[in-house]
Amino acid sequence: MPETIDTRFIQYLEDACGASVSEPQIIQHLWSGYGVCFRATLSSVNTSNKRFSKPTPVVAKCVTPPDVLSHPKGWNGEAGHNRKLASFKIENSFYQHLQPLTNQDCYVPRCIAVKQWQQGSMLVMEDLVSAGFSNTTLTLTVKRAKTVLAWLANFHARFLSFDASTVLKDVDVWSEGSYWHLDTRQDEYQRMPKGALKTHAATIAMRLANAKYKTLIHGDAKVANFCFSSDFSACAAVDFQYVGFGIGVKDVAYFLGSALSDEDQRAHGESCLSDYFTLLKQALTQRNIISPNEKTCLNTQQIDELIEEWKYLYSFACADFHRFLAGWSPEHWKINSELQRQTDIALSQL
Ligand SMILES: Nc1ncnc2c1ncn2[C@@H]1O[C@H](COP(=O)(O)OP(=O)(O)O)[C@@H](O)[C@H]1O
Ligand SMILES: [Mg+2]
Repeated sequence: MPETIDTRFIQYLEDACGASVSEPQIIQHLWSGYGVCFRATLSSVNTSNKRFSKPTPVVAKCVTPPDVLSHPKGWNGEAGHNRKLASFKIENSFYQHLQPLTNQDCYVPRCIAVKQWQQGSMLVMEDLVSAGFSNTTLTLTVKRAKTVLAWLANFHARFLSFDASTVLKDVDVWSEGSYWHLDTRQDEYQRMPKGALKTHAATIAMRLANAKYKTLIHGDAKVANFCFSSDFSACAAVDFQYVGFGIGVKDVAYFLGSALSDEDQRAHGESCLSDYFTLLKQALTQRNIISPNEKTCLNTQQIDELIEEWKYLYSFACADFHRFLAGWSPEHWKINSELQRQTDIALSQL
C-alpha cells in the first residue's frame, strides 16, 4: 500500500498555492527526518484563479525539522542541524532568484511557490516528469554520464564571473558551494585519522577557495539529483541545498565519483574531464557570441587560463572530498583507487 501523506503537508501545499491538491504521492523522505518530498496535482479552486485552470503536476519539498532539543547529540547534532536549516533557506532562495537565469541547456524545474513559516518551509516546483525528464537512476554508463557533464558545463558557464556583490546581492548562496566544505565540517575533520590528508586539509581547501576563476556550483551533483529524458540524452537537476561559489571541477569530481564504477573512472576519467572542458569552452564562447558586451564575458585567453587552472585543481577537488569522507565514513565505497590516486597527485604537488 502506498504510504499516505500527513494531511498537514497537503494543507501547506494548498495554502502555498491557493489551489486544491489531488493525487498526492510520496517520492521520498528528506535526510534524517527533516520532511518529505512528494508529487501532487494542483487545480484552481475558483475560476478567478487562472494559474491552475489546467491541472498542474508539481513536486513539493516540505521541510519540517525535528525538534533539536530532543536530539541527544549536543553540539555535533546542532552543527548539522544548523547547516541543514541554512541549506533549505539557500535552496529556496536559489529557486526564487536564480532558477529564472538558467536555460534549456542547464534545465532546472520552474519555481511555483516558496512558503516559509517559523520552523519549516515548502518549495513547490514544476514536476520534471511533465517537462520530459521522467527517468531517475543511481548509476550511469560513460556515454550517459556525458549528458550530466554537459549540464554541469552549461550551468557553470551560465554563472561564471557573475559579480557576486551586485547580481547576487539579494540571493542567499553558500560562499563555498558543496556540502563537504571544510569550514562546515569541523566535526568530521576532528574524526579523521592522522596522516598527510589531515595535515594538509586546510591548504587543500585554501587552494580551491583561492582559485582565480569561480562560478556557482551545484554542490551535490550526484546521479540521484538528476532526472533524465527517456533516451538519457538530456537531463535536469534538482536539490540545490548546497549551491554556492566554487570551481566547476568540484562538481565534476564528485559527480564522476558518484556515477561511474572505479574501473570506468580509471579507464574513462580523463576523457570525461576532457569532454567537460570542451563543453565548457563551447558554452563560454557561445555566451560571448550571444552577448559580447556583457561585462561578465571572458575573452579567449581568459577561457584558456580558466581551463588550465581548473584542470590543475581537479586532483585538489578530489582530495578535498576524500578529506570529508575520511572523517565522515572512512569505509565509504566512494573511497576507491581513483580517489586515492587523485589524492596522491594533489598531495605530491604541495
Ligand atoms: N521538481 C521535481 N520533479 C521531479 N522529480 C523531483 C523534483 N524535485 C525532486 N524530485 C525527485 O525527488 C528526489 C528528492 O528530492 P531532493 O530535492 O533531491 O531531496 P533530498 O534533499 O532529500 O535529496 C530527487 O532525487 C528527484 O528524484
Ligand atoms: Mg537529493
